Amino acid sequence: MNITYYGHSCFGVEVNGKHLLFDPFISPNELANTIDVNTVKADYILISHGHQDHIADAESIAKRTGAKVICNWEINVWLEKKGVENIRPMNIGGKVKLDFGNVKCVVAQHSSSLPDGSYGGNPMGFVIESTEGNFYYAGDTALTYDMKLIGDYRSINFAFLPIGDNFTMGVDNAMIACDFIKCNDIIGMHYDTFGYIVIDHELAVSKFMQAGKKLTLLEIGSTIKK
Ligand code: NI
Ligand code: MN
Repeated sequence: MNITYYGHSCFGVEVNGKHLLFDPFISPNELANTIDVNTVKADYILISHGHQDHIADAESIAKRTGAKVICNWEINVWLEKKGVENIRPMNIGGKVKLDFGNVKCVVAQHSSSLPDGSYGGNPMGFVIESTEGNFYYAGDTALTYDMKLIGDYRSINFAFLPIGDNFTMGVDNAMIACDFIKCNDIIGMHYDTFGYIVIDHELAVSKFMQAGKKLTLLEIGSTIKK
């Protein structure tokens, strides 16, 4: 799997030749001004919740690429009103089999409203299962015991976890989340974008290392293989 970081919580993950794009927030993100949002590839756009910093570019990328949007019912209704046609509405607990693998929607402990203030439904995380491996994209969430369900019933190869604190869990709770999901290979997200969530990178990485875990903080625009 190729993983490209577009800043904040936005990642492109290529799974079995399909481009999955998570939580597109690129054009308003000053830290991601090297990314041309018009060149970002997507066959699927997965949206964890309705907050601006997760959905800002969803409409434009969905319309340009024709990608199928995977999101909860409330975000589906909101995007439909904006003229986005290719949407798969889901909700927590649901799983769908797609051409690259499976998407399972899991609990995220957070809030959700849409940029215009309308109701965003409940936030979600995603577990992706494929012949190339399984991973967990947590979305915005606190540490929650629900994460144990992921670790107890699935094998996760790597996970995207928020580490910026303040609006989500921070580094110390993300390390506990590793134990819950039984996965120690983590890609950090939801840090540095705003003043509230600026973190010390070296300290975060060393805390993980001392606990026998791995935290990867990607450069915006870089691509790694998993
Ligand atoms: Ni949020
Ligand atoms: Mn957020």
